[in-house]
Amino acid sequence: MQIKNICCIGAGYVGGPTMAVIALKCPHISVIVVDSNPDKIKAWNGPLDSLPVYEPGLAEVVGEARGRNLFFSDDIPGNIEKAEMIFMAVNTPTKTEGEGAGMAADLRYIKACAKDIAKYSKSNKIIVEKSTLPVRTAEKIKEILEENSSKIHFEILSNPEFLAEGTAIQDLFKSDRILIGGDETESGQNAVQALVDIYTNWIPKEKILTTNVWSSELAKLASNAMLAQRISSINSLSVLCEKTGANIDELSKAIGMDHRIGPHFLKASVGFGGSCFQKDILNLVYLCKYYGLDEVAEYWHQVVKINDYQKNRFAEKITDNFDGDLNGKQIAILGWAFKANTNDSRESAAIYVAEKLFDEGATLKIYDPMVTKTSILNDVQFYWKEIPDSIEVQNRIHIEMSLEDACEKVDAIAILTGWEAFKTKNFNYDRFQSKIFDGRGIIKEAINIYTLGK
Ligand code: UDX
Ligand code: UDX
Repeated sequence: MQIKNICCIGAGYVGGPTMAVIALKCPHISVIVVDSNPDKIKAWNGPLDSLPVYEPGLAEVVGEARGRNLFFSDDIPGNIEKAEMIFMAVNTPTKTEGEGAGMAADLRYIKACAKDIAKYSKSNKIIVEKSTLPVRTAEKIKEILEENSSKIHFEILSNPEFLAEGTAIQDLFKSDRILIGGDETESGQNAVQALVDIYTNWIPKEKILTTNVWSSELAKLASNAMLAQRISSINSLSVLCEKTGANIDELSKAIGMDHRIGPHFLKASVGFGGSCFQKDILNLVYLCKYYGLDEVAEYWHQVVKINDYQKNRFAEKITDNFDGDLNGKQIAILGWAFKANTNDSRESAAIYVAEKLFDEGATLKIYDPMVTKTSILNDVQFYWKEIPDSIEVQNRIHIEMSLEDACEKVDAIAILTGWEAFKTKNFNYDRFQSKIFDGRGIIKEAINIYTLGK
């Protein structure tokens, strides 16, 4: 079966860039991205320098394909009906209430999507899970589809996204692997082949791995858990280095040169952030508990606990440096995004460090080159346990428009995102005579030590 029309539900960090690249590489396929948020669609159709997602190289890809075979639309029913293949790329946050709150994935958007697909489909369709989902979600999706639509045949594939934000376009152009899970039935295998045929337009065949649906769903959770585990492992050693006089950068280099271990994801930090790691590990923990595997659950849970410990430890280090009292102190928060080259701040360590410093009485001067003032203030409302009132915000949270302004007259500078512009080779911190706390290569002594950019 040759696919001519693709529809993707969800125009976010995953749906947007992924579909843009599919459209670029497959000019013979019409790719339409829909979203329940019409403002987002408007922005995707707007100027290339203010697309809703910032990602190096994305604007160029959208610029080339948009209007040719890449479209952004708010007509969900019409585009579901027209497509032979539908990608689900809606968000799957951690549940905040009900059974599994704080751990299990909230599947309400996925379920809503499945209901819409059942309602508006008039012909057989291949449904592709792009979002990260707990293993066996395909079963639930199938149930919803079959309950709500009788004559139509739906084939469900799992095709998890492995792109990392900030390098999404490069990751999509040159993926390590493309994973496609499908049913072992004949129609399942035909659907798998239809998706393989799309990717072979630019990905070498040997990099496309086909498996059963459950392996594919679980592989995504497990990959993220393994990556996060490496960061928590090195971070757990950073504190031991500080106690013993060992140097964490030297340690990580020495460990990483063992080719069985490798150098990647061994950089000590103030803690990992982003929309995936914490959410996916908690989801894995919940799954293990659900199957009665308490020891396995506890093993993975520790990865998240070390991450919380690291974020706290960094904030405490700053506070301790001022003898436990930040009242009347001004602190520059450099970076709000969860890592460089993205405007995404979900679960960013900066949010938690800033919260702790603010709670201790500090006045914050926040600067990030890509995260907007509105997003920063929204994050404060959404993530902080105690939400400051508008007067406190006005008096003690200042969003600055330049690096220079943020560092002016502060008692301390906390570097929380690894933006190039923050590196000492690109910015002279000396003239501000403040204490520097570098979270992107966690500090040894905390005072006037630059580990970045060396
Ligand atoms: C993705 C994946 O889907 C998630 O599973 C993974 O773990 C993290 O990355 P992401 O693209 O980053 O999510 O999320 P987001 O940028 O929030 O995009 C989701 C989009 O879906 C939003 O634009 C939202 O408006 C849209 N949406 C959500 C719908 O169109 N319909 C819905 O019912 C819910
Ligand atoms: C991750 C996975 O890498 C990707 O494959 C998956 O599909 C989605 O989740 P992402 O969250 O976009 O991607 O970013 P990633 O580059 O993995 O970084 C996650 C966090 O770990 C960031 O906060 C980063 O700063 C931190 N990190 C990364 C470290 O602290 N040390 C490292 O050595 C590497």
